[in-house]
Amino acid sequence: MCGIVGYIGKRNCSDVLMDGLEKLEYRGYDSAGIAVFEKDLIRTIKTRGKLQAMQEKLANEGKPIGHCGIGHTRWATHGEPSDVNSHPHSNGRVTIVHNGIIENYSELKDFLTERGYTFASQTDSEVAACLLDYYYAERNPLKAITETMRELRGSFALGILFRDFPDRVYAVRKSSPLIVGVGENESFIASDIPAFLKFTKKFVLLDDDEIVCMDENGQHFYNGHGLPLEKEVQIAEWDVEQAQKGGFPHYMLKEIHEQPEAVKKTLDAYISNGVPDFEAVGLTDELLRDVKRVFVVGCGTAMYAGIVARYVIERLARVPVTVEVASEFRYMDPIMGKDDLVIVISQSGETADTKAGLELAKSRGVRTLAIVNVKYSAIARGADMCIHTPAGPEISVCCTKAYSVQIAVLYLIAFRFAYAHGQIDENVMKRLTEQLCGAPKSIENVIVQNDECQYIASQLVNVDTLFYIGRGLDYALSLEGSLKLKEITYIHSEAYAAGELKHGPISLIEPNIPVIAVATQRDVLAKTVSNMEEVKARGARIIAVCRKETEFAEGMVDMRLDFDSDLDDLFAPLPAVCALQMIAYYTSVLRGIDPDKPRNLAKSVTTE
Ligand code: G6P
Repeated sequence: MCGIVGYIGKRNCSDVLMDGLEKLEYRGYDSAGIAVFEKDLIRTIKTRGKLQAMQEKLANEGKPIGHCGIGHTRWATHGEPSDVNSHPHSNGRVTIVHNGIIENYSELKDFLTERGYTFASQTDSEVAACLLDYYYAERNPLKAITETMRELRGSFALGILFRDFPDRVYAVRKSSPLIVGVGENESFIASDIPAFLKFTKKFVLLDDDEIVCMDENGQHFYNGHGLPLEKEVQIAEWDVEQAQKGGFPHYMLKEIHEQPEAVKKTLDAYISNGVPDFEAVGLTDELLRDVKRVFVVGCGTAMYAGIVARYVIERLARVPVTVEVASEFRYMDPIMGKDDLVIVISQSGETADTKAGLELAKSRGVRTLAIVNVKYSAIARGADMCIHTPAGPEISVCCTKAYSVQIAVLYLIAFRFAYAHGQIDENVMKRLTEQLCGAPKSIENVIVQNDECQYIASQLVNVDTLFYIGRGLDYALSLEGSLKLKEITYIHSEAYAAGELKHGPISLIEPNIPVIAVATQRDVLAKTVSNMEEVKARGARIIAVCRKETEFAEGMVDMRLDFDSDLDDLFAPLPAVCALQMIAYYTSVLRGIDPDKPRNLAKSVTTE
C-alpha cells in the first residue's frame, strides 16, 4: 500500500527517488510523484498513472535538480487516482508523502478548516501536511512532528520536507513500515529495503512513534517526545540482483523460476541430521507436545498456504487445525487459550489484518508463531517465535515463491508436530523429510514446460469464466490456482471442492467452459474423476493438472499439464502449484496484462 522514498546526499536526488520508486511499485502504482529541493525551493512533479507516466512527465518538464527530496507511488484509498490526489502533498510550509490511513482525517480537516486551511485534494494525507504546518508555529520541525503524531490516529509512515530546511528530510512512522538506509555521506528512507539496496546494504529499522532527521551529517533519531535515540545499524541479507528481473520479462516469471532454489534453501535452513529442527526459533518438541489446537491466520495466498497446512498437520499429527482469514479472525472473538498455537503467515510481514490477528492472539496469552519472508518486518518482530523463509525479495504483486516456501516450512512443522505427539517415530520423520527434499527437483521439471503452459494459456485467453476443482490437497491448490488466475488475468474464476459442484455451481457449466481439474491425490482420484465426468457430460473443456502416469478415459481430458515426480502425493502441491502459477502467468501475458502490476491490487496491504 503506497511506497515512500526519501534521499539526501551527493547524487541527483530525482534519479535516486525514481529508482527507489521503481523497486516499490509493487506497493501501488495508480500515481506517483517526487518533491525535490532545487536550492531553496521545493519543486514537485506528480501524475496519475504508473511510473512510466511519471518518467514521461519528468522528461517533458525537466527533472528537478537537487540533492534532497521525497517520492511516492500510490495505491489509492481516499480520493480517486488523479494528478491532484497524487503525492507529494504540500500545504503551508510542509510537503509530505504518506503511506497508511489517517482514520480521524475528517475531524482533523474540520479543525483545520476552522483555522483557515483549505485543501486541494480529497486525500487523508493532505490533512497531515496541514497539521504539520499548524504545529510548525515555532518553526521547530521536531516539535511540529511530535505534536502532529499525538493527533493522528490510524497508520502512517511520513516523509517530510520543511520549506525552511532545504537540507533535511524528516520521517516518522506508526504501524506502517519505514526503513532508514545508511550510506556513505548519504541517507535514504524507504518503505522497503530494495528501494536503496543498490546504494547501501546498511539500514536502521524505525519503530513505531520514532522519528528520523537526515541531513548532511547523517541520521538523527528521536522518540515520540523528541528525545534523541541510539539505533542499531543492521546489514541487509538481500542483494541487488535478487531485487532485479535478471533477464526475465517479468518479476513473476523470475520468481516462479526461483522456486526450486528457494525451497531448497528453506529446507536446508530448518533440517538438521535429516529431520526438521526448529529449536533455534524456540519451537521445541516440549512446546509442540503441549499444543492441543492450531489456528492458522493469514490473507490471500498466505491463508491458502494455511489450508495446505491444515490437511497435512491434521493428517500426520492428528492435532485439529482451524484456518482463518485474518480480517475475520481479528473481529470474531475466537475461542482460544493457553493450549493453542496461533500460526500467522505473511510474505511481507506487514499485512494489517494479519498483524492485528497476531496482536489479538498475544493479548489473549496464546503462543504465537510467525512464518514470514521479510525478516525485519513488524509481524516477524511481534510474534513469540518466528520462522523466516529465505526466499529473497518477492516483488511481483502475485505471490508465487513465498507460497512454496511457506508450505515447505509447514510440512516440516507438521512432521515435527507428528513426532512430538507420538504419531510417527524418528524413522518415519526422517523418511518424510527425505521425500520432501525431492520437491525442488519436481518443481524444476514443471517450470520448464513453457510450451505446454503457453498452449493452455492460448485456450484460456478469451474465456469469461472458468472453474477449478479438486479434492483434499487438490482443493487447497484449486483455491490458490484460481486466485492466481483472477488476480492477473481478470478472468472470473472460482474454485470448488469437486464434490460440491453438484450443490449449485454445476448449473453454471455450459458447453466449452474450461474446468481445471487438479488431480494429484491418488486416494481421491477416482472420486475427482467422477466429478470431471459430470462436467464433461455438460460440455466443459477439461484441463487436468496431474502426474505423468495418471490415465483418464479417452476423450475426457482436453488438455493436461503433467508433472513427472517420485514425490509422495502429500508433497504434490509443490510441483502442482507451479503448474497453476505458470498457466496464470502465460494467460495474463497473452491478454496483454502486466502480471507484475495487476489493476487495483497491491502487494503489501498495510491498511484494513
Ligand atoms: C495481498 C497480495 C497477495 C498476498 C496477500 C497477503 O493481497 O496481493 O499476493 O497473498 O496480500 O500478503 P502477505 O504479505 O501477508 O503474505
